[in-house]
Amino acid sequence: MLNFRANFKTMFTILHDFTSCYIQSFITEMVQCVHTLQAISPPFPMNEETEYSHLLSLREQINYHNYRYNVLDDPIISDYEYDRLLAELRTLEAAHPAWITPDSPSQRVGGTPVEKFEKVRHPAPILSLGNAFSFDDLRAWVERIARVDERVLTTTFTVEPKLDGLSVVLHYQNGLFVQGATRGDGEIGEDITTNLRTIKALPLKIPVPSSSPSPAGGENAPSLVIRGEALFFLKDFEALNQRLAEAGEKTYQNPRNTAAGTLRQLDPALTASRPLTLLIYQIVSGEGDLPKTQLDTLATLRTLGFPTPPVYHCQTVDEIFPILEAWALKRETLDYEIDGMVIKINDHALFRDLGFVGKDPRGAIAYKFPAQEVTTTLHDIGVNVGRTGVLTPFAILDPVEIGGVIVKQATLHNFDYIAEKDIRIGDRVRLKRAGEVIPYVIGPVLAARSVELPQYVPPTHCPICGQPVENPPGEVAWYCVNAACPEQLVRNVEHFVSRGAMDIVGLGIKIVEQLIAEKLVNDVADLFLLTRDALLGLEGFADKKADNLLASIEASKAQPLGRLINALGIRGVGAVMANDLTRHYPTLDALAATTLEALQTIEGVGPNTALAIVDWFARPRNRELIAKLKAAGVWPVAETRVVGAQPLAGLVFVITGTLPTMSREEASTLIETHGGKVTGSVSKKTNYLLAGENAGSKLTKAQELNVPILDEGQLRDMLQ
Ligand code: IVH
Repeated sequence: MLNFRANFKTMFTILHDFTSCYIQSFITEMVQCVHTLQAISPPFPMNEETEYSHLLSLREQINYHNYRYNVLDDPIISDYEYDRLLAELRTLEAAHPAWITPDSPSQRVGGTPVEKFEKVRHPAPILSLGNAFSFDDLRAWVERIARVDERVLTTTFTVEPKLDGLSVVLHYQNGLFVQGATRGDGEIGEDITTNLRTIKALPLKIPVPSSSPSPAGGENAPSLVIRGEALFFLKDFEALNQRLAEAGEKTYQNPRNTAAGTLRQLDPALTASRPLTLLIYQIVSGEGDLPKTQLDTLATLRTLGFPTPPVYHCQTVDEIFPILEAWALKRETLDYEIDGMVIKINDHALFRDLGFVGKDPRGAIAYKFPAQEVTTTLHDIGVNVGRTGVLTPFAILDPVEIGGVIVKQATLHNFDYIAEKDIRIGDRVRLKRAGEVIPYVIGPVLAARSVELPQYVPPTHCPICGQPVENPPGEVAWYCVNAACPEQLVRNVEHFVSRGAMDIVGLGIKIVEQLIAEKLVNDVADLFLLTRDALLGLEGFADKKADNLLASIEASKAQPLGRLINALGIRGVGAVMANDLTRHYPTLDALAATTLEALQTIEGVGPNTALAIVDWFARPRNRELIAKLKAAGVWPVAETRVVGAQPLAGLVFVITGTLPTMSREEASTLIETHGGKVTGSVSKKTNYLLAGENAGSKLTKAQELNVPILDEGQLRDMLQ
């Protein structure tokens, strides 16, 4: 249990120290933040000392913005600015590998894949919880434990959501995150430190009480072991699935299993590509005096920079019930999955004295919400055609109520899933609905299959246009590859006008279908050729509606290039990547003229996406579409210094010394925006060394390896 090495005399001092040290460190960070935001690209040449303090300040800034984004959910800089800070830190660290420390925010990713996870013994048992399924069960629990200790009759309770993720145990030594483990059997878990480091909500460094000795760490360094739940926010889970679906890969069934699977990946790079988050609710053990109540525990954890779940304080059992009722409804709109609420005795001393029954502490209980799982009959399997032509099967069900909502359809993920689970038309199927996630079929109830049902055979032809479907090698998905498939056109236009894309207000799916059915729209560019007369000829259109629609179509021409690229619906190119592309290509023509190699030098663009982009622009139909958009005046130009194609595509640069007019960071950005790549050390793979004054060992190395050496002027010449 909690390590209550009671030393009441110093308890308040330490808690106070925790708090004030933390606040102080934030004030320092804020000041440094303002200070260094001005100093991102210092106009003066930096010597090692200033470089080092710049590096420290970059780390502070990154940690601070990370905290604002991931813990407070209140960022004050854009993702782009954040990435710039991180890129600058990485460049500095690449130039000075000796300065890299494990708590640097650059070190979240980078662990090498492991063969298996090592075992970790927890410092105290990681307990489970008993369950209650009704208010009566809860009353019975309180009566039961009041018989064990009558202080229960006058004590208070906390109520927190029961987070449906993976329980993790985190170790901090001397303020640094040193180890993280799964719960395992409660005594021994698995060491998943490298994977946990990739979670941005996990602080790699926390304030240490100022009274603590042993700044160098080691055996006597103050330690803190905490516990919480790793999970996906639903929006991130859905975005992950959408990304996978667009790339033709297998999608995941639910956030909980995906969180568990993601943290038990042997390759941390994979974990890093998945946006997991954390909520911390317990101090397992720690040095000195620890908070005496659950409320104080959560407050202290927050003060240390950890994200915590919401908590309520109830004076009596009766005060608990309305909270449970409210959360049973609120659960539907939460951004993470919960499967109940946890009620805890607030007073840690009483909690500890109450002891356990098996692995369940008497002092806490989980109130489980009614299951959101039901069974129903699968009438048929329908197939949707998405905008990229991907075929997605869905279940057509006997309508059934689940969590207060009538469900008639549910996703079946993909054809492999149907085969793996052996789901057959006519089966009784188990259905799950969780939070905002689309209901999905868990699998058939085999015991209820009384007659032999035929296995499901996926379609060989598109259910809409009747053309044969294809399964590209290495992909799970099947595609209708007929570019003229009307369903694809509906989905394409629907995506084109959607909020994250061209945001054409008033153009809902019904109107899109109408426009396509009436042959007024044969591709997205036709939207810009619609006339008032044509619209007035449609059912349901009067003057005002037609004028409003035309006005919002016209207004959409002012959308920035990133939106337009996203709107085109190229496989693998979502809003973020579309924006990234605009930093390298100022117009659609520039993007159309690019090469596979140039695209792959851009951070985040993998070979598949690069291929999808080049392939998209190579198709004559799409070339015509671009020309049509241009002629219609839909031609945003991005603000970028890149003119035309990428003259440095495929070239690797190293920068050294002090350049006459640019900081190294500016030079690096200049090279990258023109398609080149910048690395930290000279090797045979380096194409050019960009050298300024006082160049040191990198210059010697380049001379040894016969790497051509450029000055700033020559670099500029190459960009012409
Ligand atoms: S407290 C003694 N609080 O639920 C402390 N657990 O079914 C015991 N869980 O294994 C745990 N949210 O992984 C606690 N707010 C919360 C929780 C929570 C989720 C998980 C935890 C535990 C499981 C028990």
